[in-house]
Amino acid sequence: MLAKIIIAIDGHSSCGKGTLAKNLAKELDYTFIDSGAMYRAVTLYLMQNNISLNEVHEDPALLGNIKITFEFDPEREYFETHLNGVNVESEIRGMKVARHVSKVSAIEEVRKFLVAQQQYMGREKGVVMDGRDIGTVVFPDAELKIFMTASPEVRAQRRYEELTKKGVHVNYAEVLHNIKERDYIDSNRAASPLAKAEDAITLDNSSMSKTDQAKLALQWARGVIKSLAHH
Ligand code: DC
Repeated sequence: MLAKIIIAIDGHSSCGKGTLAKNLAKELDYTFIDSGAMYRAVTLYLMQNNISLNEVHEDPALLGNIKITFEFDPEREYFETHLNGVNVESEIRGMKVARHVSKVSAIEEVRKFLVAQQQYMGREKGVVMDGRDIGTVVFPDAELKIFMTASPEVRAQRRYEELTKKGVHVNYAEVLHNIKERDYIDSNRAASPLAKAEDAITLDNSSMSKTDQAKLALQWARGVIKSLAHH
């Protein structure tokens, strides 16, 4: 039996972490978990219920009313995010949530709440999880850590195309502005800022195709799995 590992993929917004994570999970027959979707779902919940960030600070037990699950949609071959039983996949991807999510994810109580769930999801290994603090906080012992990066302009162009293809109307300048703002907040917040784990491999994909990235990362993963089999 091949050993199962945890693959942690961290990096800035819109660098293709999700795509790489999904490809790896498919090739290895692992579970893919989008931790950013969980922060987005909490953000949506707070917005829907008019709960301010201060209220969360003062009464973190409020978070106990939030149940996030991932349900597989066989048609799209995709795990869709559900918030208290309702499919919120498209809502959490919009700009409205994007505008608030960095502030929500800077709240320590929110991080504690979600990190515990993420660790539980990875208890049997065989997962690829992408986010900002997966290799540093959620799974510091992950067998493979990848830190992804690309220039803000390349990332904004990709996100712009993705949203436009989905029929969401945005302008490029707003997307670029949002990406830079999120980079800043994500890297400078006090609670688990985005940072490269010391033992993470950097993957700059500014000029790499999705297929090439997947091939390279798969090689790394297979290498690690093989080396564990020899122990
Ligand atoms: O990966 P994403 O863009 O969907 O993430 C949405 C936001 O959630 C992002 O601004 C930072 C935050 N996030 C986080 O703080 N920690 C994670 N592990 C994942 C996401």
